Amino acid sequence: MNQITGKTRICGIIGDPVEHSMSPVMHNAAFEALGLDYVYLPFRVRGEELKGAINGIRALNIVGLNVTIPHKMAVMPFLDKLDPLAERMGVVNTIASENGELTGYNTDAPGFLQALRAQGIEPDGKSIVMIGAGGAAKGISFILAGAGASLVILNRTLSRAEELASQIAQYYHRKIAAMTLNEANLKRAFEEADVLVNTTSVGMVPDVDRTPVPGKLLNSHLAVSDIVYNPLETRLLREAKAAGARTIDGLDMLVWQGALAFEKWTGQKAPFEIMKQAALKALRNEK
Ligand code: ATR
Repeated sequence: MNQITGKTRICGIIGDPVEHSMSPVMHNAAFEALGLDYVYLPFRVRGEELKGAINGIRALNIVGLNVTIPHKMAVMPFLDKLDPLAERMGVVNTIASENGELTGYNTDAPGFLQALRAQGIEPDGKSIVMIGAGGAAKGISFILAGAGASLVILNRTLSRAEELASQIAQYYHRKIAAMTLNEANLKRAFEEADVLVNTTSVGMVPDVDRTPVPGKLLNSHLAVSDIVYNPLETRLLREAKAAGARTIDGLDMLVWQGALAFEKWTGQKAPFEIMKQAALKALRNEK
């Protein structure tokens, strides 16, 4: 790591827990590669200390923070400004300080969009099937609808899918359908689908044998994306590859959200590959 000096600028992540975050290794690798006198630190912050932690950004002249579970929504009232996208989604994962004025951004959802585009997939005009209607699904569905995709949301609990669909419809005039997650509905949704996105944790360690979509329904016309990155190749992605589909793994989304935050804090283009390699190494060491 770079030598810490009197001029070193501080970034970090707040959450509870933060021990498993890959952001410190990703960002510190990027600072080192670009020779920037910055450091990125993990801060475990309990809910009752959140307001104090945000005031600490100003008090300690911290450049910026990532925000992770469980603070992504709770942090919003303590900021000075919200980026329009973060405001619309109601989720902040990145804070940038400009002379103590704190702006909240969402880079998770734009990171997902970048990961798709980096694979040559442009959502505009595409039909996208999204599994899940929780926190991760919210950002992803907003960004996809905003980018011009039509969406089918399938969720185990239908009412959550319906609620999310109606939230999106308030902002974007796209075709948004909500259905219960089952085989018949998946089959129907796939008739027109270009892209499948899993936003649930199904298939994540330790449940690596599980998949949200039966492999027999997958086909070579689909691009399949999974937000789960541990394992890097989930059962869903393995079966998608076997069916001839293009795949986008969850690590790319994670690294892109970091890259976009990095650019806000440093004003420099993020070294994506270096960040990805650092994240991959951390992921392997975790096992
Ligand atoms: P996150 O913020 O990670 O998205 P969440 O808000 O709890 O977490 O949402 C989890 C999503 O995964 C939900 O869509 C959830 O479905 P329900 O709304 O029916 O709970 C989905 N999910 C979790 N476990 C699942 C399982 N075993 N099968 C199908 N869907 C599951």
